[in-house]
Amino acid sequence: MSRDIQSGKPWRLGVLFSQTGTTAVIERTQLRATLLAIEEVNEAGGVDGREIEPVVYDPGSVMERYGELAERLFTEDDVEVIIGCYTSSSRKEVLPVVERRNALFFYPTLYEGFEYSPNVIYGGAAPNQNSVPLARYLMENFGERFCFVGSDYIYPRESNRVMRNIVRQAGGEVVGEFYTELDAGADDFQPILAEIERLRPDVIFSTVVGDATVRFYQSYLAYAGDGTSVPIGSLTTSESEVAAMGAEAAAGHITAAPYFQNLETEANRAFLKRFRARYGDDTVVTSCGEASYFQVHMFANALRMAGSTDTDRLRDVLRGSEFEAPQGRVKIDPDNNHTYLHSRIARVDRTGQYVVERELPRAIKPDPYLVVPALNDWSVDITHPGRRRRS
Ligand code: ACM
Repeated sequence: MSRDIQSGKPWRLGVLFSQTGTTAVIERTQLRATLLAIEEVNEAGGVDGREIEPVVYDPGSVMERYGELAERLFTEDDVEVIIGCYTSSSRKEVLPVVERRNALFFYPTLYEGFEYSPNVIYGGAAPNQNSVPLARYLMENFGERFCFVGSDYIYPRESNRVMRNIVRQAGGEVVGEFYTELDAGADDFQPILAEIERLRPDVIFSTVVGDATVRFYQSYLAYAGDGTSVPIGSLTTSESEVAAMGAEAAAGHITAAPYFQNLETEANRAFLKRFRARYGDDTVVTSCGEASYFQVHMFANALRMAGSTDTDRLRDVLRGSEFEAPQGRVKIDPDNNHTYLHSRIARVDRTGQYVVERELPRAIKPDPYLVVPALNDWSVDITHPGRRRRS
């Protein structure tokens, strides 16, 4: 505990990330980044001399548990603000709980869009910030025949609906769409891989999540080879799943995200240094972890200005607020509570590292309802790291 902290009652922040179960592989990175940000705030003196105290529960990747534990945080733990959730199904469990109490919920995960709650601050990418640029990149580089493979729940189904529209608008086609259980094993992917072989798509769009991602990519390697010729493009495969599946299974595959671990920004270098000092040199950071980190800092900054955890006051301060995040500067859009985020596309190399192949030099305004047909918008100002930038 910091020496500077006065003996005030701490500000409590409920933290709901799974440390066990099928999505723990990614949610653990969100938990670590959340706790690191809280420690940083506290070491710098807390907020108005009061520490932020995390109240952490493990929902065990069981969807209903997120809602039950959110309820417990409000009724038994004296919490008014929470951060948590990876899957959209878990967010949908927490949503009515926070709305009923007019509490505040930070959600640091990419999702399918088409949602707005005055009680949620959305810190992950909406489809115009990740699906659109990924579709464009895949079509330019690999072809127009897409095959979708996803875990069977709301995010993959909705995300595929959005992706299908984007691909069709650009003149491409979806030749197959397959779903598996959240805890799918290697055997579950065999019939899908056989169908993919028969359909001969140019590219796979994967919305498989959690541990099943590891089994999907490993099965793909065994069945079809690595990602050199027909890559898997995904928004839900990150440094964490890549570390778990190994470099051979990950090589050649592609992810679109606001943040990658090896970004060369000053804020990222400082973030990684502290992250590794806290959790060890081998611990990976992910885009969803980075979103958790900057959302906690934005919460602390807003708390400092609002002087209260009252949702209406906090929300007023949060809307329009900015933060120098590891990915670059981010801003909460006062129009929709989502976040202006950077957009990058990276491909895994033979050593299992993401190499950024495209990025935009500015953060993209979130458009969760895809009001603007953004496929062409995104083509403006694309930069290609490693190549000369346009002047
Ligand atoms: C997700 O379910 N929003 C990844």
